[in-house]
Amino acid sequence: MDERIISSEVNESEMSIEQSLRPQNLKQYIGQNQVKENLEIFIKAAKLRKETLDHVLLYGPPGLGKTTLAIIIANEMGVNVRTTSGPAIERPGDLAAILTALEPGDVLFIDEIHRLHRTIEEVLYPAMEDFCLDIVIGKGPSARSVRLDLPPFTLVGATTRAGSLSAPLRDRFGVLSRLEYYKEEQLTSIVMRTADLFETTIDDLSAAEIARRARGTPRIANRLLRRVRDFAQVKGDGSIHLSLAREALELLQVDRLGLDHIDHKLLKGIIEKFRGGPVGLDTIAASIGEEAETIEDVYEPYLLQIGFLQRTPRGRVVTPEVYHHFGIEVPAK
Ligand SMILES: Nc1ncnc2c1ncn2[C@@H]1O[C@H](COP(=O)(O)OP(=O)(O)OP(=O)(O)O)[C@@H](O)[C@H]1O
Ligand SMILES: [Mg+2]
Repeated sequence: MDERIISSEVNESEMSIEQSLRPQNLKQYIGQNQVKENLEIFIKAAKLRKETLDHVLLYGPPGLGKTTLAIIIANEMGVNVRTTSGPAIERPGDLAAILTALEPGDVLFIDEIHRLHRTIEEVLYPAMEDFCLDIVIGKGPSARSVRLDLPPFTLVGATTRAGSLSAPLRDRFGVLSRLEYYKEEQLTSIVMRTADLFETTIDDLSAAEIARRARGTPRIANRLLRRVRDFAQVKGDGSIHLSLAREALELLQVDRLGLDHIDHKLLKGIIEKFRGGPVGLDTIAASIGEEAETIEDVYEPYLLQIGFLQRTPRGRVVTPEVYHHFGIEVPAK
C-alpha cells in the first residue's frame, strides 16, 4: 500500500512535529465538547477532594486526539505522565517495574491498551482496583505470594478498538470517553491554530477548505496544512489564500470531500463493474487488486461514515451521493 496523504495513521517522519503541535490544556483542546466538559468536572472534583482522578479510557479512530488528551489530563491534574503501550509491555515484570516507579497521583498512559497480553491484564486488575501488586516470590512448594502497595495513580488507556478490550478490563475504568470525528468548523479552528504556531498567514476560507478535506481528523488537517504551506513558500510569498490552497490541494489529489485516488478507484470500480452493487467484499477486492481486509479496515470506514457506501446483507452498495459527487447520472432501478 503506498502512503496516502489522507491516512489517519501517524507516519514516522511527522511524530516530532505532532508533538510540537499538541494542545497542552483543556482550553486549547478544540472540539469534543462533551468529553471535555465531563473531564473538566471530574478533574475539578478530584482536585477538591485531593484524590487521584478515576481511571479513564479514551477510544475512537486514529488521529482524533487520544494521546493529546492523555497528556492534557496529567497537565490539568498537575502530575507527571508516564507513557507506554500495550505491545511494549511484554512480561508482567515490565508492568510491575513501571507501576512501582510511579509517584503518587501520576498518570500512567497505556496506548493501544487492547493489545495487552492476558497475563499482564491480570497484574493490572488489583493495581487499578486497590493500588497493589500481587507478586509471587520463589518457586515450587516454597513459593508464596506477597502483596505490595503502590502509590495511587490514574490509568489512562487509549484504544482505536474498544470492542476488542476484555470486559473485566473495561469495567475497571471509571470514565469512558468516546472521541468523535470533528466538524468542519472545529477543524477550521485547528488549522488556524496550527498555522499560528507555524507563523504562517492563512485566511478563514483557506482554513475551511483544508478542514473540509481532512476527513474529520485533526492529524490529517495538520498534514494537509503543512503541504499547502510548502506550496505557498515555493509558489508564493508563504502566505496562504484560497486560490493557492485550492491549487495545492488539487496537486495533492485530495478532492473536495477528502477522497483520494484509492477512494475513487474503489467507488468507481463498484459503479462501473457492478452497477453500483450490491457486491461482496471479496469480489470488490479481487476486481481492484486489493486485500479485502485492507478495504474493510482502511478504505471503507470513512466512506461508510459520510454515507457514500452502505453495507447490506447482499454486499456493498454505493449511494446516489457518489454519482452526484462524480457527476454521473444515477441509473434507473
Ligand atoms: N482537539 C484538538 N485540538 C487541536 N489539535 C488536536 C486536537 N486533537 C488532536 N490534535 C492534533 O492532532 C494530532 C494527532 O493527535 P493524537 O496523536 O492525540 O491522536 P491519537 O488519537 O492519539 O491518534 P492514534 O490513534 O494514532 O494514537 C496531534 O498532533 C494534535 O496536535
Ligand atoms: Mg495516540
